[in-house]
Amino acid sequence: MAHLLGAQSIGLDFGTGTVLDGVTVGLEDGDRIGIVGSNGAGKSSLMAILAGRLAPHSGQVTTTRGTRVGVLDQSDHVDESLSVLEAIVGDADTHEWASDPRIRDIMSGLVPDLPADAKVGTLSGGQQRRVALAAVLTGDYDVVFLDEPTNHLDVEGVAWLADHLNRRWARGRGALAVVTHDRWFLDAVTERTWEVHDGIVDMYEGGYAAYVLQRVERDRIAAATETKRQNLMRKEPRMAAPRRPCPHLQAQVPHRRRQRPHRGCAPHPRLRPGSTAWPRHVSARTWSSWCAARSRTPPPKAARARSCTRSTGTSDPANAWGCSARTGQASPRCCGSSPETRNPRAAA
Ligand SMILES: Nc1ncnc2c1ncn2[C@@H]1O[C@H](COP(=O)(O)OP(=O)(O)O)[C@@H](O)[C@H]1O
Ligand SMILES: [Mg+2]
Repeated sequence: MAHLLGAQSIGLDFGTGTVLDGVTVGLEDGDRIGIVGSNGAGKSSLMAILAGRLAPHSGQVTTTRGTRVGVLDQSDHVDESLSVLEAIVGDADTHEWASDPRIRDIMSGLVPDLPADAKVGTLSGGQQRRVALAAVLTGDYDVVFLDEPTNHLDVEGVAWLADHLNRRWARGRGALAVVTHDRWFLDAVTERTWEVHDGIVDMYEGGYAAYVLQRVERDRIAAATETKRQNLMRKEPRMAAPRRPCPHLQAQVPHRRRQRPHRGCAPHPRLRPGSTAWPRHVSARTWSSWCAARSRTPPPKAARARSCTRSTGTSDPANAWGCSARTGQASPRCCGSSPETRNPRAAA
């Protein structure tokens, strides 16, 4: 597949708002692209830039050397002084175009009702558009851009155009980019879809039906991701609580347990020193008790050294540290904490 044409980071701004913002797209041999989007999204502008009819305000468009580009713009007008035949085949001799089955097919498919010698100026707007489309299709192009080609065609005309575009190039050759709101036409002709919106281009595989399905799925995933993000943001302050446990969590633990000295509970491996993250698999109650233990100031070293060498043998678990369970102060019952027990001889 040869690369035919590409646009790098193109931007377009008419002053009333950004139409295209850093769009990068490319066309390769065999591409059949449908360009969709709401009115005013920038479809025609994108096509005009790719076709070289409009200069982007930033970025660049590159075309492979020798690539022939044909365009039917929405604003294209045929010279009104020409006859229908002249407008379509130019100044080619009758025997030239009459012997070309492709040109005869185009004329019978698009303008069967128009007299060949009628002046274009005498035709209606829709008839003039059909003449303009026929003139583009008679050209020998590698890339064809069509902007709303089906607008002035009847049902038979749309079906003929779809068939013609499918037969126009051999498989894997030539490139087509078409802007249209005709869903049947998109499904019949295109194999990839570009959606222009908010200054960007989203790309989808397949025609219109495939695009709709993928877009619904993409929107669903985006909505789920956004909900997840919102939930995470709500939780974040609690997860990133600095050092102190959340008062709400602490309040869930009964008061007497919060006051109990922390004993024999090794910090969880994921609860490294200084860590403030709440491991999600740890229950709120356990986490709260750890945090309470971490925030409690251990008794001074000296008090601990004095404490249990001559313990009174009390079963008060706090005496393992020689401090009161309730206040964290040295216990009066502990040998190391009262003047009498600390130095029995002096007391005697
Ligand atoms: N020559 C221009 N001057 C100012 N604004 C323009 C011009 N051409 C297009 N626009 C604006 O750019 C936007 C995109 O236009 P267009 O590419 O024609 O949209 P679409 O083809 O998707 O309907 C529209 O808001 C239109 O008003
Ligand atoms: Mg348009």
